[in-house]
Amino acid sequence: MNARKISVLRLLSDGEIHSVTSIAAYIQCSTTEIHNTLRHINIPNIILIGFNNKGYWWKNPFNWLNEDLIFKNLVRNIVDKVIYLRILDHVDSTNNYLLLNELEKRQDINDCISVVAAELQTNGRGRWGRSWHSGLGESLTFSIGWLTSRSISCLTGLSLVIGIAIIRVFNSLAIKNVYLKWPNDILFNNKKLGGILIELRKKKTDSTTYCVIGIGINFRLSDNIKCLVKQNIIDLFTITGVSIDRNLILGRLLSELHKVLIDFEKYSFNYFMEEWISYHGFEGKKVNLFLPNDSVIEGIASGVDPNGALVLLTEEGKKIFNVGDISLRLK
Ligand code: BTN
Repeated sequence: MNARKISVLRLLSDGEIHSVTSIAAYIQCSTTEIHNTLRHINIPNIILIGFNNKGYWWKNPFNWLNEDLIFKNLVRNIVDKVIYLRILDHVDSTNNYLLLNELEKRQDINDCISVVAAELQTNGRGRWGRSWHSGLGESLTFSIGWLTSRSISCLTGLSLVIGIAIIRVFNSLAIKNVYLKWPNDILFNNKKLGGILIELRKKKTDSTTYCVIGIGINFRLSDNIKCLVKQNIIDLFTITGVSIDRNLILGRLLSELHKVLIDFEKYSFNYFMEEWISYHGFEGKKVNLFLPNDSVIEGIASGVDPNGALVLLTEEGKKIFNVGDISLRLK
């Protein structure tokens, strides 16, 4: 997706029909180039209207991310000064962006959190080296840069706490039956709605840790993306039947994330443990735990410990795991 395509889409997103000549004049290129751009744009519902190629109409355009709207949706008296937000049209990965541009700039744990959100990631990354796929405007993809006084070994529960913030926001908007899967998948009906990728860097200058917290939530995926992803996935449009404004969810999420980060810094994961277990969709169920060394452990998911590690009841008794991927065991 290049800058020209994005400019044309921004022009068309007012929902009006735009003549080819007016688009060409606006973008300062030929009408043939406009036709070529729009023919290969791969966005659903961009329709060529009328005879003699009269114009283009984008039926049901998505709402672009918008800083003012996001700040308007902040709750709990959060002032925009504690959040430094940037919105990018496209970037390889919002996590990469923060790791490259912010790591050395963060000096003080009282600094604001930095947030970067992108309309399109060209190389979105998931856990275990997987890719995270989404088309332009189809998901909410953003990362938060946060500096904490905690050392890396004391941050195991962080990704679970982020999951709590996400569920709290969905609950507050009456988006029901979304739950967590240890350590940090967001699921609906055993299909993946969202994921969290946390990357930690110890600061060279002191004992603080820079955390990049990447979050992806599917809003309205195109058939292209659904075919591309090998996993069972779902989006908010399929769950709710309406197109929810990403600015609303991002505003609410930033408020809640800001709050849980402060509480996590103060009280650690223990404070959130019971709440997290109440959101765990696999609690008390028979599961397989896949470990990085390719071994599989069978057990019953029996909560998490005060650090956020998974507790499994196995044939040899209770065992605790810090890493792995779980799936439901079919009888
Ligand atoms: C997973 O479930 O495997 C984690 C997915 C995390 C995806 C988000 S999208 C925003 C941020 N940037 C990335 O490259 N990845 C995370």
